[in-house]
Amino acid sequence: MIKREDIEKIINAARIEEVVGNFVELRKRGVNYIGLCPFHNEKTPSFNVNPAKGIFKCFGCGEGGDSVAFLMKHEHYTYPEALRWLANKYGIQIEEQVLTQEEIAQQSERDRIYQINDFAQKYFQEILFTDAEGKSIGLSYLKERELEEETIKRWGIGYCKETGDDFSKKALEKGFTKEELVNAGVSLVNSNDGSLYDRFRGRVCFPIYNIGGRVLGFSARTLRTDKVKAKYVNSPESLIYSKGKVLFGLHLAKNEIVKQDECFLVEGNMDVVMMNQNAVTNVVATSGTALTEEQIRLIKRYTKNVTLLYDGDSAGIKATFKAVNLLLEQGLHVKTLLFPNNEDPDSFARKHTQDEFKNFIKNNAENFILYKTNLLLSDAQDDPIKRADLTRNIVETIALVPDLLERDAYLQQCSKLLNVKEEILGSELAKILKNKSLKTNFKQENTEQEVQENETVVEKPIDVKEIEKEYIVERAIISLLFNYGNRITTQEIFNSEGIKEKKDLYVANFVVCDIISDDIAFKHKLFNEIFTIYSDFIYNKESIPELSLFTSNQNQEISKLATDLVMNKYSISPKWEENEIKVPQPDDIETIDKYVRDTLLDFKLYKINGYIKEIEEQVFKTQGEEQLEWLKTLQRSINIRNDIAKQLGRVMIP
Ligand code: CTP
Ligand code: MN
Repeated sequence: MIKREDIEKIINAARIEEVVGNFVELRKRGVNYIGLCPFHNEKTPSFNVNPAKGIFKCFGCGEGGDSVAFLMKHEHYTYPEALRWLANKYGIQIEEQVLTQEEIAQQSERDRIYQINDFAQKYFQEILFTDAEGKSIGLSYLKERELEEETIKRWGIGYCKETGDDFSKKALEKGFTKEELVNAGVSLVNSNDGSLYDRFRGRVCFPIYNIGGRVLGFSARTLRTDKVKAKYVNSPESLIYSKGKVLFGLHLAKNEIVKQDECFLVEGNMDVVMMNQNAVTNVVATSGTALTEEQIRLIKRYTKNVTLLYDGDSAGIKATFKAVNLLLEQGLHVKTLLFPNNEDPDSFARKHTQDEFKNFIKNNAENFILYKTNLLLSDAQDDPIKRADLTRNIVETIALVPDLLERDAYLQQCSKLLNVKEEILGSELAKILKNKSLKTNFKQENTEQEVQENETVVEKPIDVKEIEKEYIVERAIISLLFNYGNRITTQEIFNSEGIKEKKDLYVANFVVCDIISDDIAFKHKLFNEIFTIYSDFIYNKESIPELSLFTSNQNQEISKLATDLVMNKYSISPKWEENEIKVPQPDDIETIDKYVRDTLLDFKLYKINGYIKEIEEQVFKTQGEEQLEWLKTLQRSINIRNDIAKQLGRVMIP
């Protein structure tokens, strides 16, 4: 835990141009710097760094944020890791919160396990390259599998001798204790005499690394072809290693995964290493475990696109189906690829040139619907019962896709492939979704709520235009606060006697007071959060908040949005222009008074129109006395609306 004051110190000390300059070549242009964006491939620079505001923004891919955000994105640091990096760079002492005795003990135990694994990795590799047994057995095996020496070194692969306790002895000599070696999982205790022997004896050892490239454990392969021994022996779970939370190869793959915006997922260590040697480096393996949610979350930090390259045998297909479902549920986009003739990525990579291999992947990866449907179809043939099962099976998978539009696109595709009407698939999907929501409802509130069996789930139609309009008017207000909050504007306001008079005041105060006194709420969560922080600041501190309160906000969504708004003042997404929504744009300072007024009026006009609709509904629903009250309210609201429209110079058609 880093203390609040220290975080502030660090953020204030950080110079964005220096931080980014560590990783990107920057050129000065005016008061800003530009360079080639590290987050997407480009030939002409659209990556901007603004020292005054302490933020960067790429106008090509849209990435942006402050120094911390840059480090998190570029180096894939967590928030505290990024802060520590900056603290180190700028020589700021950070006082970490005091650890308990127990935490200290655990901390040092973890450190020892890291040290042991590090020692073991170096030792195993030395044996592989210099020891007679290592060379004749281990190295010759790897060469037989066509691994180049450079590849072996890059992956830190080594060999543990057959002898039985060669490694354990050396580790004890080095000063590690018996208990530590056992806890780290590299040694086992002989039950006869309590001596140690090597867990990985007679095997080639693939180190398992964390994202930062530290060794967490080993996955060790036997060299024998007989089936007497398990093919792999892996490090057991330890204080630092948990197999479901690691992806083999991620430390070397992460940057390329981001660049390619795609991650290849394979089953075996050997597949990763060989593909890597064949110049496909955005690849990781699950290493013998079924894909876990934690592993998916790891991938999601870098990309949303996953291509599964599992074996084509029946076990591989089963694993693929499971993995696809899990990935879809987490909102990822999935493609699958089968290799011909029982090949796996390793054997296929070995038999083909780099270009052939890359092209094969490019041309044969297909979306999971095609993959699953074709596979199941060939099995079901014309058997109607099997085909019905198959259809249900596929629709169940589609039901996992969280995005409505994507789900619909899959349904269309599936309908074509199976030659089943879309409506039929749609109602099947509705049934599944209903069951699902019944189950979750039941879990959440298993008391009341009995839902009728034949009730169908109707998805409320979403009016995209409506959502966007509201988004735009709210965004315009936030943008106004960020970009012009500390400017003076001349506006007419009511004085204490209730008379309108012209006054000079800060844009921030004028806008915030106006919105609060009219009691208008922001519908979008993020805008609402920002507005609350902003207005609280104005009321409590009686000053206007610094931009860094938002651009360096710990909530990444806020800092991203703030950066976008600050760097991108006037640009409007073309999508919005299609909707013919006018967002006022000030060209110079003179127009600012009008800009402030118009932005506020636009916002209010939108809100009051929504309010009027609600009142109209009430008028329809009610009768007599009550209805009369609603009618009066309606008339008042319409008057206000017309007044706003008039001020904006628009005519409202009743
Ligand atoms: N695995 C394991 N224990 C086993 C078999 C496999 O932990 N007894 C894990 C390993 O991490 C292995 C992965 O499952 O990398 C996939 O298995 P497999 O495809 O058999 O291994 P490969 O790495 O492809 O090894 P090889 O090509 O040398 O057979
Ligand atoms: Mn293999």
